Amino acid sequence: MERRSFIKTASIAGAALGLLPERVLAQAKKSAAQASPRASGGASKAGAVPGWAKSLTDTDMDGLGPDGKPEPNYNATRTGYARKGVKHDPAKPHRMKLTKEEQDILDGKKGKALAKVMKTVVDFGNMFGAPKLVDLGGAPHCSLFNAPPFVQPLLDIFEECIEEGLKTYEPYTVNPRPFDLYNVETQPDEMAMVFEGYPLQVQLDYIHVRLGGRGLNSRSCACYLPEIGNKPEPGTYVAWGESSAVNYGNSVLGLRTNRYAGGMELLCALIGKAPYFGLMTDEGRMAKWLIDVKTKKEPDWGVLGAAIGMKVVEDVPFIAGIDKYFGGEITDENMSKLKFMGSSTAANGAVGLYHVENLTPDAKEKGRKLLVKGYQTYVVDDAEIDRIYKGYPNLWSKKDANPTRCYIGCPHSTYEEIRYWGELVTGALKKRGQKKVAIPIHLFTPIPVRNHLLDEHPLLVRDMKRAGMSFSNMCVVMFTGLKGYAETEFAVTNSNKCRKYSPSRYFSDDVLVEIVLTGKMPKGA
Ligand code: F3S
Repeated sequence: MERRSFIKTASIAGAALGLLPERVLAQAKKSAAQASPRASGGASKAGAVPGWAKSLTDTDMDGLGPDGKPEPNYNATRTGYARKGVKHDPAKPHRMKLTKEEQDILDGKKGKALAKVMKTVVDFGNMFGAPKLVDLGGAPHCSLFNAPPFVQPLLDIFEECIEEGLKTYEPYTVNPRPFDLYNVETQPDEMAMVFEGYPLQVQLDYIHVRLGGRGLNSRSCACYLPEIGNKPEPGTYVAWGESSAVNYGNSVLGLRTNRYAGGMELLCALIGKAPYFGLMTDEGRMAKWLIDVKTKKEPDWGVLGAAIGMKVVEDVPFIAGIDKYFGGEITDENMSKLKFMGSSTAANGAVGLYHVENLTPDAKEKGRKLLVKGYQTYVVDDAEIDRIYKGYPNLWSKKDANPTRCYIGCPHSTYEEIRYWGELVTGALKKRGQKKVAIPIHLFTPIPVRNHLLDEHPLLVRDMKRAGMSFSNMCVVMFTGLKGYAETEFAVTNSNKCRKYSPSRYFSDDVLVEIVLTGKMPKGA
């Protein structure tokens, strides 16, 4: 879910409202009016972003192309499955075929709660013209991870499931928590903001424990990292929601999933089935765009992803010209390039799947046969990358402020990334005869990844901590997006996704190092 979670959670809550008892509807209305008075200055208006979340700048895509003009292709369902020109006849609504067992569940023969879950999943699939449900494999990953007041109706749905003893088909991983008051230094006022912004967090965590969620130590949006191990076999149908994990899973691991709203993935996991449509099908995985990357040097991966996402929005791109930066295969060392690029396509657009010529599994198997007839082409050269990078607006509430924090790791960093940043920063400090960085650097990574670095390079970790670098397994965007935070903190980041969803400013690694060493913005930045 993620930043857009505020929107997507609201949409699934909305979609499921028809199934809710009166008690829950009343609570939903109460919750909507309960945005912290301290933070919001009053109740949220229907349809408006709650005041306490106002610094979450955006949801996935805003309809503007890489040239800043409205994108004619903008027509996203946010599932990763663009359905252009589909006509709906209300007199003949689509009805998928169910097996006898599925129909029995729908008819309530296995309990009331499971019947409601099945109805929601089937209705969702019918909306997209799915012909059937398919069995899910591997393990679920859940992007329902932050609990502001308006998720109460969703939590009530899951409490009802728990009352009937429902559990997911396999233990599941969950996105990071939206705050970490132990490892990210937080002032009393900021702590109050967190508790007011996410008052239902403990209830949500408790729900995960009872439904089959794995422990808090495995919390991460990058569930596929070796240290977390939620990496199903290629070709497996899963129902994931975290846009960066969906994007990486479909593209790099060869999984088959659409982009589910936070909560909808968990409903699918409770019945172990999902509607078969979109990116699960061979047809839905065909590319409508050829992205011809003609840069003379290795591109900035986050900006390249942003350019692609803004251009193709929700279509599948086939990317040529970048396989040379991978030496023929995807490894633990170079996977972060795809993680940066892919998550940026998913955040700046709504890309749920991309292919890289000669590199990613579908492209290795089928090559350019993946391009549909009449595909469009978008050429990305150095000038295009440069233009987009330089065009990013400064969204800080005080434009000429000095930076106060540096965020590395959205999506969560790999082992290689935190090692790289440790060596980069401690090396730069040594070169300048400086002991500490001027502003704190937060490395967002799962706890087992941090422990991996501690095992392999304990002295580096010691030096990193002494230099002012710290580790946390929270979601930086959900923290930074809280109202109040953006008025006092001026963050810089290496994540184009974090840039897209928060007022944090995006810089390349060399500029970031200069910023953290000096605590100042370099001239012209
Ligand atoms: Fe992960 Fe949060 Fe970024 S869930 S991808 S750190 S927005």
